[in-house]
Amino acid sequence: MDAEYPLDRSGQQSLDFHAVLTHIASSVMVIATCSEGVDHTITATTFTPVSFSPPLALICVRIGSQFETAVRNARAWSVSVLREADVAIAERSSARSRTKTDHLDGIPHSRCRPGNVPVLDSALVGMTFRTTAEYAAGDHMIVLGHLVELHLPSDRDFPLLRFHQTYSVIDRSAP
Ligand SMILES: Cc1cc2nc3c(=O)[nH]c(=O)nc-3n(C[C@H](O)[C@H](O)[C@H](O)COP(=O)(O)O)c2cc1C
Repeated sequence: MDAEYPLDRSGQQSLDFHAVLTHIASSVMVIATCSEGVDHTITATTFTPVSFSPPLALICVRIGSQFETAVRNARAWSVSVLREADVAIAERSSARSRTKTDHLDGIPHSRCRPGNVPVLDSALVGMTFRTTAEYAAGDHMIVLGHLVELHLPSDRDFPLLRFHQTYSVIDRSAP
């Protein structure tokens, strides 16, 4: 056994890292890029703000995925934070059955700087980034970006969440 692998409190069992992560609630986003004129999207929860000045954020992208090739080629990407009504978009952008060219068919979006990246018109908030660094980290690539554009919502709505491997929403009745 890997001596550095974390142990649970009893020290007897290895923790299942993936299972532990399902207990952390996250906002759900569509990350998009445009490579050689073709749009690519993934559903993601790994967006992390890193710095305010300069404005930097990172995403983690599975190495070997179509999206990894596309985003590394484009060196530009967008983040569209999904609203709670957008489960169908989240399911579509994570479906393995999607073809290479149908990622945004029928989903209204706008072209933005840099690199003509698409931002979903329905996004709770949208951001675009220019890639400034890439770090290989195990089976994912950490892609660091500098903020280029901000798309603020015209209304206040609630985000779609991911918790316990299902889509979820904020309970407004809770104190
Ligand atoms: C809730 C959720 C969060 C995800 N977060 C990420 C992520 O942060 N990075 C990533 O590379 N894939 C993430 N995925 C997987 C992608 O959305 C997509 O399913 C995967 O890239 C499809 O594999 P393919 O590109 O080989 O077709 C997530 C999927 C779901 C359902």
